[in-house]
Amino acid sequence: MPKPFYITTPIYYVNDVPHIGHAYTTIAADVLARWHRLIGEEVFFLTGLDEHGQKVQQAAAQAGISPQAHCDRLTPQFLNLWKKLGISNDGFIRTTDAPHRAVVQRCLQALYDAQLIYHADYTGWYCTFDERFWTEKDVERGLCPDCQRPVEQLSESNYFFRMGRYQQRLIEHVQANPSFIRPESRRNEVLGFLQKPLEDLSISRPKSRLAWGIELPFDANYVTYVWFDALINYISGLEYLPAQPAENRVWPATVHLVGKDILTTHAVYWSTMLMALEMPLPHAIFAHGWWTVDGEKMSKSRGNVIDPYTVVDQFGADAFRYFLLREIPFGQDGNFSYESFIGRVNGDLANGLGNLLSRTVTLIQRCCRGTVPPSHASEVTQLETELQSAAELLIHKTMPDHLRADRLAFNRTLEAIWGLVQLGNQYIDRTAPWVLAKDPADSKRLQTVLFHAAETLRFLCVATYPFMPETAREVARQLGLPHDVSQMLLASPIAWGDGGAEAVVAKGKALFPRIDASTFLRQGDSMKTDQSAAPSPSTSGAASTATPRTEGTSSPPSQQEDGLITIHDFQKVHLTVAKVLTAERIPKSAKLLKLQVDLGTEHRQIVAGIGKKYSPDDMVGKTVVVVANLKPATLMGVASQGMILAAGDQEVQGLIAVENGDVQPGTKVK
Ligand code: MSP
Repeated sequence: MPKPFYITTPIYYVNDVPHIGHAYTTIAADVLARWHRLIGEEVFFLTGLDEHGQKVQQAAAQAGISPQAHCDRLTPQFLNLWKKLGISNDGFIRTTDAPHRAVVQRCLQALYDAQLIYHADYTGWYCTFDERFWTEKDVERGLCPDCQRPVEQLSESNYFFRMGRYQQRLIEHVQANPSFIRPESRRNEVLGFLQKPLEDLSISRPKSRLAWGIELPFDANYVTYVWFDALINYISGLEYLPAQPAENRVWPATVHLVGKDILTTHAVYWSTMLMALEMPLPHAIFAHGWWTVDGEKMSKSRGNVIDPYTVVDQFGADAFRYFLLREIPFGQDGNFSYESFIGRVNGDLANGLGNLLSRTVTLIQRCCRGTVPPSHASEVTQLETELQSAAELLIHKTMPDHLRADRLAFNRTLEAIWGLVQLGNQYIDRTAPWVLAKDPADSKRLQTVLFHAAETLRFLCVATYPFMPETAREVARQLGLPHDVSQMLLASPIAWGDGGAEAVVAKGKALFPRIDASTFLRQGDSMKTDQSAAPSPSTSGAASTATPRTEGTSSPPSQQEDGLITIHDFQKVHLTVAKVLTAERIPKSAKLLKLQVDLGTEHRQIVAGIGKKYSPDDMVGKTVVVVANLKPATLMGVASQGMILAAGDQEVQGLIAVENGDVQPGTKVK
């Protein structure tokens, strides 16, 4: 029996309600879990809560209730959010679960019996926030090197785990297994950290100082250090969650997803603990970056914490899931702003996928009485084969490559999926089914075109499902597909041409209604994060600068008044590097040249008014910049699918060229 793909998130402290950082890792894990299930693997996806330790004890004290009551009160906040976000975890662990506590005690006892835990007096610098000791050399200016809060000197008798003993073995493991710590930059950081002598780890806290924890099985005066307890969740959860764990579900994990701040605890503490327990190490630990909000670190005191509940209520779970994974490469830091969020929703979701679905379904209803028509082999042209190759490449090659556990290029996966969305929309523009519908002689061509548009959407259902499960379900419903999207790759491997025909489409509401940015940002002042902050001049959508906050204050000019556009407006124009393959004059025109250009992914015909300045011979082989998403037009009876950029008003004075001649056709210009 093959071993399941075992994926984990960190278990979250229940000292406060969940925020965007918690949602981020959990959504990423969910996408991977759904993807692996979709390709037929068994999956075990574990998430949960870290309920012991000083932070939780303090939060409970502040609330005036017992730590357990505090945890019980906060747990639904996480569970409900995961439900709202469509998280498909198989297990949910709480470190106060009795079976978890038993496993922690079993591990402590095993290490104690093997003399890998010893008792000693220790004086060190203690950081209450991070709940750990630092040595003299770590501490500068009396501040914790991790969180920069003041540390205090503490002398204590404690139990220590012989972590230092495993330093060399760990270095060798990291060096021998390039996929163990990802991304590469973080792997180098861990190797750098391991250059310094690795000290033993204090794994106990006297109950007199911290009572809220798991008692050491060999000394009732102590509880164990919260991290020793928390990390064990990855093995204890396998033993008892859900109630009937599958037999083949065994350690090690395939991938632990963690934030960059907790990489050391995972890469070093957890790995050495596992070595001491004589257990294998996880295959991969992937550290992602942190979100800032409007360019600032997110914190309660700044009042800019993004509440995932609010975002989901306003825009839906799938838009949030899409944005978080599309906006930044997993592994790098990124910035959250409502302006960029709205830009993505309107641009990629409403105008992209939403538009493709709505046009296709409307055309099928209007031209084919609501039933997906058949394709006719005699009508299949290069346009259709290009669409097919792009869809097949996406599902069978690009997605599996980008989603490999050592790569996790979620943003590039989404970029590739939206490449197909764009191709689908261009296909409809170019084939203009509404024109074909006018002439009965074109009926076979019309049917073929609408079949291929529906087929593109069927492939997009599969591709988008891991990221946006509800959206994929709705696309499938509107297309009249009989399948459960979560099973579509499993039931039978998806093949172009197999789907759709004869399905009865059902038009529904817009997948993603466009958000009126100015209205939203005006109404949404309560959602705006830093209310006192001035709108940022560079990245804000026009709306934020356009909206007077208080009546009577002089407001900056609106978008219409000052003629400025936002970056999102600009991004609607798809500028692409292209190479001119052939050129000829259009008869009876002094100005127009008919060009065939290579756009990297396709060849296009473009009519350009540059014939007075350039001869056809001048043009062949030139690298030019093309507006690739311009509506097709006909000039002197010749179809044109794009525009070449040139300087000059009435008369062309020069072409816009790419300074480096090696830039490949198809490269984006921005
Ligand atoms: N309880 C520990 C983890 C134990 S795992 C055995 C813990 N909990 S936490 O609730 O403080 O943080 C959980 C995760 O949230 C971490 O991976 C952290 O990186 C992540 N984030 C916290 N703030 C974040 C952002 N602003 N952006 C992205 N992720 C962030 O640490």
